[in-house]
Amino acid sequence: MTDEGAFEALTQKISRERGMSCGSYKNKCLKRRIAVRMRARAIHTYDDYARLLDRDPHEYQALLDALTINVTKFYRNPETWDALRPYLAELWTVRRGALRIWSAGCASGEEPYTIAVLLAAAGAQGTIDATDIDRLSLERTRQAQYPDAAFTEMPADLRRRYFRDGQPAQEVRALVHVLAHDLTREPPPRTTYDLIVCRNVVIYFERSAQERLFQVFVDALRPGGVLVLGKVETLFGPARERLTLADPRERIYRKPA
Ligand SMILES: C[S@@+](CC[C@H](N)C(=O)[O-])C[C@H]1O[C@@H](n2cnc3c(N)ncnc32)[C@H](O)[C@@H]1O
Repeated sequence: MTDEGAFEALTQKISRERGMSCGSYKNKCLKRRIAVRMRARAIHTYDDYARLLDRDPHEYQALLDALTINVTKFYRNPETWDALRPYLAELWTVRRGALRIWSAGCASGEEPYTIAVLLAAAGAQGTIDATDIDRLSLERTRQAQYPDAAFTEMPADLRRRYFRDGQPAQEVRALVHVLAHDLTREPPPRTTYDLIVCRNVVIYFERSAQERLFQVFVDALRPGGVLVLGKVETLFGPARERLTLADPRERIYRKPA
């Protein structure tokens, strides 16, 4: 089998056996992550690596952990959160009820807890669905115990007010609901949201998977609802026609009311 053929066979095996739809991810990303594991185990061909997966369940788990890139921080890209604060305040004023928010691809939870802090600081109420495909990330989100390094971008006053010993205060914690969820194949956890934040996730997806997901997001937004993507991500396809670009630099989009 050619190298490319063996790669295809390996990704199909992972999709079949572990339910991760590798076809939705860019091959370049998958190859880079698989190479990390092959190097760690001193294995040189995809065929040999597939055989290792058959006999070593720990390696399978290590591979699945490696396939998801979980880098994150509280208040990551501060300008984006500063730009979002007035939208949150406005959504809260207009809705006059608990806001429904989705942090899609939440990694270890710094993003949904950042949103929860901003809600609390605005005196607003709401629930934040924090979802990810990665089991370890979800465990960390539930544990909610963070090292100093996670806070380097968070304004000191917010950290002082809403965290103790690396843990979010109970009022912040109570707003976040942690759920396993695969963005490439599952419908949204709820049918309507006021705010969807999905940053630094779709960058790893194939264009067609991105386009599909964007439509899912727009369908799930209420009129007047807000979508935030990552700094290097851009909305395109039919979904782009259905939202207005409220802040081009911070990738904040809005569904017409
Ligand atoms: C780089 S992190 C982004 C974390 C956070 N949103 C941020 O911007 O700081 C990407 C996250 O997307 C998650 N992810 C990758 N594929 C996914 C999928 N199909 N469904 C849900 N989450 C996925 C990964 O597990 C990882 O935690």
